[in-house]
Amino acid sequence: MSFDRSIKIAPSILSADFANLGAECRAIEAEGCDWVHVDVMDGHFVPNITFGPDTCKAIRPHIGGVMDVHLMIAPVDAYLAGYAAAGADVITAHLEAGPHIHRTLQAIRALGVKAGLAINPGTGLDAVANLLDMIDLVCVMTVNPGFGGQKFISSQVDKVRQLRRMIGDRPIHIEIDGGVTAETAPLVAGAGADVLVTGSAVFKGGSVSASHVYRSNINAIRLAAEAALVRAA
Ligand code: DX5
Ligand code: ZN
Repeated sequence: MSFDRSIKIAPSILSADFANLGAECRAIEAEGCDWVHVDVMDGHFVPNITFGPDTCKAIRPHIGGVMDVHLMIAPVDAYLAGYAAAGADVITAHLEAGPHIHRTLQAIRALGVKAGLAINPGTGLDAVANLLDMIDLVCVMTVNPGFGGQKFISSQVDKVRQLRRMIGDRPIHIEIDGGVTAETAPLVAGAGADVLVTGSAVFKGGSVSASHVYRSNINAIRLAAEAALVRAA
């Protein structure tokens, strides 16, 4: 995985057809997405349950590009090897998932996987400053984690702007997760985000058999984000 800060659209398969995940992954990639975002939930850290390592292993052959695994689970360390073995290119753990985030990030990198740090809307940036040499991505949650289709929490835009300044020219992605649409994408792209997780805004109105809708949804979000970059230049 080489690093560049161009806008990347990362559809979350939380909003996909769970009965057809392999075909959905193939469809969103064929229709122009950059990463595939896999929302792992344990019913403990967040009030929902989704995918285990075996599901990720099953969909891996259907993802030609980056499989971006977002672990909304606690505790997390015991499961890292399973998601790495399943083929994750990025594994993101939540700062709030336990007392030893530094050890978790060390363990992710020791598995040869890019390390992501996710922070909830109620969490500040203080701890991030101490972890900049341990991470390849910061995932700023713009909804409270657990479900797709929630309303974007606009107070997080300033956090993105501060984070972008903190990161400087380090090769660290800023990923936004939750409520990203063609309306909200410009706000976060203009503030310095480069990876946009989008669930309902990509999958709404489409299906594997009507995947052209995915393409128009992806393009609308990308164009809106890139237009904001032009304005910010
Ligand atoms: C929420 C998930 C998000 C969510 C995004 O806990 O982490 O990735 O699926 O879905 P939308 O884009 O519909 O808010
Ligand atoms: Zn996510």
